[in-house]
Amino acid sequence: MTLHALTKTAFRSSSTQIARMMSVYGPSESGHPSTSLRKKVTIQALQSMKEKRTPMSMLTAYDYPSALACSSNPLIDITLVGDSLAQVCLGYNSTTELSLSEMIHHARAVARGTTHPFIVADMPFGSYQISIEDTARNAVKLIQEGRVEGLKLEGGSEIRDTVRKLSGLGIPVMAHVGLLPQRHVAMSGYRVQGKDVDSARKIINDALALEEAGAFSIVLEAIPKELAAYVTQRLRIPTIGIGAGSQTDGQVSRSYLPITLCRWHPQVLVWDDMMGTWAGHKAKFVRRFGDLKTERDSAIQKYAEAVKLRTFPDDSESYTMDKMAWEEVSRIME
Ligand code: KIV
Repeated sequence: MTLHALTKTAFRSSSTQIARMMSVYGPSESGHPSTSLRKKVTIQALQSMKEKRTPMSMLTAYDYPSALACSSNPLIDITLVGDSLAQVCLGYNSTTELSLSEMIHHARAVARGTTHPFIVADMPFGSYQISIEDTARNAVKLIQEGRVEGLKLEGGSEIRDTVRKLSGLGIPVMAHVGLLPQRHVAMSGYRVQGKDVDSARKIINDALALEEAGAFSIVLEAIPKELAAYVTQRLRIPTIGIGAGSQTDGQVSRSYLPITLCRWHPQVLVWDDMMGTWAGHKAKFVRRFGDLKTERDSAIQKYAEAVKLRTFPDDSESYTMDKMAWEEVSRIME
């Protein structure tokens, strides 16, 4: 299917889904949207996208409506219940404050709104650091109760045994290297990683170790684009970039790494950054594809004004009662 055809199909069905979202009644008896625009995305499908150099798009969702929106477009391949939900939905200062039960609560809502995208959830800070047994228990809980398909873990070769254990249990693991928001204090802030020779080599070695341990894909966050392209080329598994550059073409030479930059580079963005609803810090790599904050603020203003001016609701927005019945109620109540 061409990009144009895929998008047309997406638009046709998104109006049905929006209508369903606005209803006071549930979306369906099962609580799951009934139409899927595309065959369910599987790990095999993601792997074949890597092999065919087809870019992947991953977008975060934190609740039922944002999950429905991700599913309303067949061009979205993966929905990530990112632990950025800590800041953008729950008002915490950092992802380290998010608990496993909060993540499960949100993941379940996302799962209810998801059709074709592969769903991945972040394992919250503290849920995979204590011991391998504790991690396995938490991972199973998040898969079973959160109803997601894969789990994302931040860290390098120091978590390879954890990744091996979960992969061995049949739990698909998405690794995450570069900037690790759960370690922002230890990293002295949200800083670009891998800019010098040693840290670049560490990221390459970490990525290779995590692939070897069984990760099915890996997020590269806030690293130089040359490094991201190199890691993408070295790994067999898909890499997904956030602040890791765009597709780059051509040849570059490094004295220690002769590499060909490739055209293929999947991306991920945080929902609120992409929609333009996040009023906080805007990282260099963020592009606001929408301006929903302006739209939202204007709707709030219009609603509040209409209430204050008593122009909302009007008669067409009110229920009426049979005149005789109302007269009877008035009579009884006198
Ligand atoms: O929590 C998150 O949203 C992430 C990013 C990769 C977007 O981990």
